[in-house]
This record gives sequence, C-alpha cells and structure tokens, in this order.
Amino acid sequence: MDLQTLQQQCLACRRCSLCETRTHVVFGQGAADAEVLFVGEGPGANEDAQGLPFVGRSGQLLDHYLEAVDLSREKNVYIANIVKCRPPQNRDPLPEESAACLPWLRQQFQLLRPKIIVCLGRVAAQQLIKPGFSVTKNHGKFFDKNGTLFTATYHPAALLRNPGNKITAFGDFVALRDKIAQVCEHTY
Ligand code: URA
Repeated sequence: MDLQTLQQQCLACRRCSLCETRTHVVFGQGAADAEVLFVGEGPGANEDAQGLPFVGRSGQLLDHYLEAVDLSREKNVYIANIVKCRPPQNRDPLPEESAACLPWLRQQFQLLRPKIIVCLGRVAAQQLIKPGFSVTKNHGKFFDKNGTLFTATYHPAALLRNPGNKITAFGDFVALRDKIAQVCEHTY
C-alpha cells in the first residue's frame, strides 16, 4: 500500500454523512517522505472546492510560516486534516464524524511514519494529543507518544481572527525548526 492507493480508496469514502454534502474529499497533500505531518481540523469551502488542504486565506498564512522555517508541502512536509470532508457551515466535526474518519489519518500516519506531528488548533490537538488540551496553555510544547513527537500551535484561521497571537505562533515554528534539526534525518 502507498499513499496514492490509500487516496484512491479514501476518495470513495461513505463512512459518515459528510459525504452527502462534500464536493471533494480532501485527502492530504505533501511530500511522500515527509518527516513532519501537520494536521488541521477539516476542509473549508476553498478546500472542498479544490480537493486540497489549506488553500484558502488560512492556508496562505500557513505556507508563509512554513516557508519562514524552510518547510513546504512541495518539499518536506505533509498536510492532512482530522476529517477529510467539509463540515457544513464550517462547524466543528461531530465526534462520530471524527471517529469514522480517523482510520484514514491513522493509515496516512502508518505510511508516512513521521517523526513529528504538528496539530493545528484545538480540534486536532484534543483528538491527537489529549482531550481538553488547551492550545493557549500548551502550544509549542512537545509530547513523546511511543516515539513520535506531538506538538500543537494556533490554527491559522484563529490567527487571522486574533493577529495578536501571530508572534507567539511564529515562535512555535522556530521551536519546531530546532526540534526538526535535532530529530529528523533528511528534512533540511
Ligand atoms: N482549515 C483546516 O482545518 N483545514 C483545512 O484544510 C483548511 C482550513
């Protein structure tokens, strides 16, 4: 199994009712040998229209932060979401939608075997790091889970709403760069 084969299977997914309203499944995008996996919440309108993650305004901001620390989806990171189909009106994914979709992310994880997983925002952090996780309190910290490092930072859409947190978020990307230099073999 490779990522492309998994993607073909995922594109036909009907495991939850989000399949009724989606335009495209947003499987994920990035380097197949990425050592760093970014996980957002779920596609918005632009992502649903294009079938690619983080392509709207928040995606532009994410790409800008990535570029500042020499990362990019073309070169060395992979970007995915907790749910692969857009929740109507961009509401939070329902627990049953996340539960139905998580096996896809788990398989992406098994194929990529990233060294570091970066949760973008509360929904991903609470799902992947710890229920009740507070991004405000615990952003930028690294948690070792069975040999994989997990960290979280502000969701770029939250930064567009609260630009006051942009400098703090940038600090998380700088800390990420330092951690990559320590633990990754071929990212830079
Ligand atoms: N917000 C997300 O959480 N994911 C996307 O892919 C786009 C916006």
